[in-house]
Amino acid sequence: DKGNHRHFMLKEIYEQPDAISHTASHYLDLANGKVKLPSKLPFDFKSLNRLTISACGTAYYAGLVAKYWFEKYARLPVEVDVASEFRYREPPMDAGGLALFISQSGETADTLAALRYCKENGQHIASIVNAQESTIARESDIVFPILCGPEISVASTKATTAQLSVLASLAIAAGRQRGHISEAQEFELVDMLAKLPGAITKALGSEEKIDQISHKLSKAKDVLYLGRGSLFPIAMEGALKLKEITYIHAEGYASGELKHGPIALIDETLPVVVVAPSDDLFDKTISNMHEVAARGGKIILITDEAGAKSVGDDVDEIIIVPDAHEFVMPIICAIPVQLLAYYTAVFMGTDVDQPRNLAKSVTVE
Ligand code: M6R
Repeated sequence: DKGNHRHFMLKEIYEQPDAISHTASHYLDLANGKVKLPSKLPFDFKSLNRLTISACGTAYYAGLVAKYWFEKYARLPVEVDVASEFRYREPPMDAGGLALFISQSGETADTLAALRYCKENGQHIASIVNAQESTIARESDIVFPILCGPEISVASTKATTAQLSVLASLAIAAGRQRGHISEAQEFELVDMLAKLPGAITKALGSEEKIDQISHKLSKAKDVLYLGRGSLFPIAMEGALKLKEITYIHAEGYASGELKHGPIALIDETLPVVVVAPSDDLFDKTISNMHEVAARGGKIILITDEAGAKSVGDDVDEIIIVPDAHEFVMPIICAIPVQLLAYYTAVFMGTDVDQPRNLAKSVTVE
């Protein structure tokens, strides 16, 4: 049932504050400012040398965001790969490692095959899944449920942000066990996760502005998305969402890679969506935007208030997200890229919930 919403996708976008607070209630002990995992871990983060993550599509991008978190907050090296590459690479693995699989449906064929490869190679198998009765859940040693409720729209939204909040909780737990996060830091990070539903509600407030911007975006043949650090995967996620439901070609690139190739594409017809809250690297992003503007490129900037104040007039449109610590920014910035894809698709009249050639659950290899 779509309720009052025109599409399941919009309904699910709007369910995110509730979905995330529901997920958080299973992973966080808010009264004490601690992570509380839903079940006992069959492995110890402290003795791990490496975490291997495999997934497909949006779930892969969630894994890429998690890499930044685990490496920064838990000092745990992470390898992330798309399952369809991982499974055929014959990657060497030390027995006793941890392999983590992320899947909304829990039935994605390549992700399942990657899981079985890791099992044969002596890994502990953990998965983050929404469908708890699924094959991936069944074949895992431990399941971290996403708990966002059924997701109907082919383009994933609430499962993505809920997956990210599970991954963020796990990264904090790993940081604690490995001695890189103090009790006080855990308290602060947990508080940031606890405040996410409110921040997401605020981010949803730019809907009208995004609707207007989408009219311009719908005229484009190609769109470039740029981001740095943990927002680079969100740039790729934005590009994927746009491709899936509008059929406009889009690419997500690391901002710093612009001058190594894609800058050649830039002219007045190429919108560039820059996902860049005002963090430590914001100056570098400003100079990337300057390079785009100098070549006539049209910039749509997703940033916070402070970022908006310091950009000058290189920028065509600004979408403001609420101020937050960089830890939770990838989750917050996922919202405007979802809305941008959604409104562009609605304006173009495509079949938003059931885009051509795509299936909700990809059980073929
Ligand atoms: O069910 P899964 O999470 O394993 O699905 C993985 C991808 O097929 C999925 O995320 C796909 O990329 C979505 N349609 C993205 O919106």
